[in-house]
Amino acid sequence: MTPTGFSRLDGVLRAEGVPLPALAETVGTPSYVYCANTIRVRYRQLAQAFAGTPHRVHYAVKANSNLAVLSLLRELGAGVDIVSGGELFRARQAGFTGADVVFSGVGKTIDEMAGALDAGVLLINVESEAELVALDALAAQKGVVAPIAIRVNPEVTVETPHAYIRTGEKGQKFGIPRDDVSRLVARLRELPHVELRGLGMHLGSQIGNADPLRDALPRLLAAIETARAAGHPVAFMDVGGGLAVPYGPDERDADIGDYAQIVRAAAAATGLTLLLEPGRYLVAEAGALLTRVLYRKHAAGKDFVVTDAGMNDLIRPALYQAHHEIEAVVETAGQVKADVVGPICESGDFFAKDRALPNVAAGDLMAIRTAGAYGFSMSSNYNSRPRPAEVLVDGDRFAVIGARETCEDLVRLERASPQWRSA
Ligand SMILES: Cc1ncc(COP(=O)(O)O)c(C=O)c1O
Repeated sequence: MTPTGFSRLDGVLRAEGVPLPALAETVGTPSYVYCANTIRVRYRQLAQAFAGTPHRVHYAVKANSNLAVLSLLRELGAGVDIVSGGELFRARQAGFTGADVVFSGVGKTIDEMAGALDAGVLLINVESEAELVALDALAAQKGVVAPIAIRVNPEVTVETPHAYIRTGEKGQKFGIPRDDVSRLVARLRELPHVELRGLGMHLGSQIGNADPLRDALPRLLAAIETARAAGHPVAFMDVGGGLAVPYGPDERDADIGDYAQIVRAAAAATGLTLLLEPGRYLVAEAGALLTRVLYRKHAAGKDFVVTDAGMNDLIRPALYQAHHEIEAVVETAGQVKADVVGPICESGDFFAKDRALPNVAAGDLMAIRTAGAYGFSMSSNYNSRPRPAEVLVDGDRFAVIGARETCEDLVRLERASPQWRSA
């Protein structure tokens, strides 16, 4: 089990060397707190597991797109996997070059693809014939050749904790169904402004065992073979992200050794450079959402702990019925079984249901753990709530890497008096 960076000293939860009560005092709540050293450890574990295999780690920006987190990963040697023009902008702001970027996503706009071509990205991962044709026309207009990869949907059975995080099964919107790959490869003959440089897949997220990978890799290899046999200069094999992290006490890390062994063997068989697109694995455990208890409430025979964080700050429990461990920041005597809920006007606004918890009181701090991935990056202003601050801890220093939004931020782009125009 990798250390997460969160530990207790004299009963008080700390992020690396920084006690969370001091942080809450300075920065307020709710706030996301990320441990830099955990991200470093995770990155190195991955790099070590693939040492000796030509590979590149393209961090999936969607997991946590804060500029300081991106910069940290860039310093470690990562590239990025992006899915929008906004993510490309962020990546550039964090110092990544075009060559560090792989552009994934099922619905890229012409503007987004133009931005990617202008930036000189390494690969644009194409997910449909229509997108391929549009990209070829765009590249022709610009007088360039677009480097592409085909994202293959290997159509395997994928076990994930929630159906919404499966992508490599039959009938999903993602990728080119494996049986259509040869037709698409043949179509490339008519499209001189794209060059097929890679083939890839992404099976889903929170994949806890290697079975789907064992089923999917031969299908990816078959697609690579088809492309090579047609004479395309394939250089990259992209296996996507999806490595699982433990959210609950009974869950385990993805077995990185097992994963690496299977993937490395497949990559070696092709002689191609392997691309990895982990998101969650690198940042999830490094983060916690620090929140304060507003009220305790007893209603209809149930106990509730009402926090100042809500589903707008962390939507994973509402969206995926995801489990997050919740701890009192300062050790508290006694236990209570309660729902932990936010202030939002939705019954889906909860962080835990019927959970055995320390007997916290109003004013106490709690940490919602394993919130470094798909936490802040999925947050919203629902109920007109300014989004939380983000803090990076490194040893016994901390820095605010995302300021708490203000109410002015909420309305900055709006106009109370419409300035009417005619079409
Ligand atoms: C194409 C692609 N690559 C990588 C990822 C990252 O997945 P994870 O955070 O589970 O590693 C995703 C997540 O949705 C994705 O869609």
